[in-house]
Amino acid sequence: MKIIIATQNPHKVEEINEIARLFKIEGVEFLPIEKSLNFNPIENGKTFEENSIIKAKEANKLTKEYTLADDSGLCVEALDGAPGIHSARYADTPQERIDKLLSNLKNNQNRKAKFVCAMTLINPKGEVIFKTQGECKGEIAYTQSGTHGFGYDPVFIVENTNKTMADMTEDEKNKISHRSRALQKVFDYIQKEFNLPM
Ligand code: IMP
Repeated sequence: MKIIIATQNPHKVEEINEIARLFKIEGVEFLPIEKSLNFNPIENGKTFEENSIIKAKEANKLTKEYTLADDSGLCVEALDGAPGIHSARYADTPQERIDKLLSNLKNNQNRKAKFVCAMTLINPKGEVIFKTQGECKGEIAYTQSGTHGFGYDPVFIVENTNKTMADMTEDEKNKISHRSRALQKVFDYIQKEFNLPM
């Protein structure tokens, strides 16, 4: 079966295909949405889930195919869940976003944080057929470490490891990430619902 990923970001489609390979998912093709369709959803939801529904619905309107959308971000306990759904726009550049986060937390002893990823799958008729969420818990470091990944990875120490996400290889991150955890639930649903090989 063919599923269109509701994003203009080719890296996200690659990552989903990488995770599918890692978990040996067969019989599903994850494809990017065509550039010419001008996919440009208005992400004005109040939660990760609402935004993932908005994106999946918009992609379905344009393609009339099965569509899968995700919406993700970092939630920091001592900052009342910020940057949350505003993670991508917390400051202008990735480095400024990290700097703002560290400066807002200062020397706060409570460093608890989690990455959250909501995913929504929509059928060709435009109906939401599956919604789920994945989380990866950890702590915000005092200083940056690592060169892999993107976004807040260099300051996010993954629970039960002494590594930041940016210290991890792509495969290591893909086994434990919020996106991978949400995606595994989507894979389980698809395999059962569409009788795909296990
Ligand atoms: P979106 O779901 O693609 O809109 O991503 C939201 C924002 O959350 C990204 O721009 C990053 O700042 C942050 N984010 C989401 N997932 C990750 C991750 O795996 N590592 C680091 N930052 C992330």
